[in-house]
Amino acid sequence: MASTDNSTLDPRAFRDAVGCFATGVMVMTCKGGAEGLIGVTMNSFSSVSLDPPLVSFCIAESLTEFETLLETEHFALNMLREDQQELSNQFAKTGPGKWKGVSYREASNAAPIIEPNHGVLLCTKHAQYECGDHYIVVARVNELVNGGDEPPLIFYRGKYRQLS
Ligand SMILES: Cc1cc2nc3c(=O)[nH]c(=O)nc-3n(C[C@H](O)[C@H](O)[C@H](O)COP(=O)(O)O)c2cc1C
Repeated sequence: MASTDNSTLDPRAFRDAVGCFATGVMVMTCKGGAEGLIGVTMNSFSSVSLDPPLVSFCIAESLTEFETLLETEHFALNMLREDQQELSNQFAKTGPGKWKGVSYREASNAAPIIEPNHGVLLCTKHAQYECGDHYIVVARVNELVNGGDEPPLIFYRGKYRQLS
């Protein structure tokens, strides 16, 4: 593969290139912040290790509750179903009211579990690393919540997609 000089990499071309990798969509939730609950739409999720069970996700330094998230220990990673595009958009918008009309219950680690969902990973922070304009959070998965058989929401090339 031809190498490209980083200093000349066009930001739009870079976004388009990484957007060609199809992902699921989740809402990372935890307690805290101005509204008492934090929820951020994310697709930077990756599994990291099987033993111990570790996953990672990335948090932008620009997030409203970024400083709180650096201090937070317990999270829920709520995988979204394909019929939850609006919910994904709601948790991707800056401003108050992210939780308006959202059904949720408190998990064993006190993080909010969004109902319904495609599955939830309850996690505890294991490590975090500053990396460019994001932090990589590595989290240990302590508990799995089964979300049922509805298909997942997919994000690909800047748009929501369906598996079928
Ligand atoms: C499909 C999708 C995936 C996203 N993935 C991430 C992500 O992995 N990390 C992140 O920090 N922001 C991600 N965002 C952006 C945040 O959801 C958004 O900046 C944030 O919720 C804005 O709210 P805030 O300003 O109140 O923090 C994503 C947005 C969308 C629509």
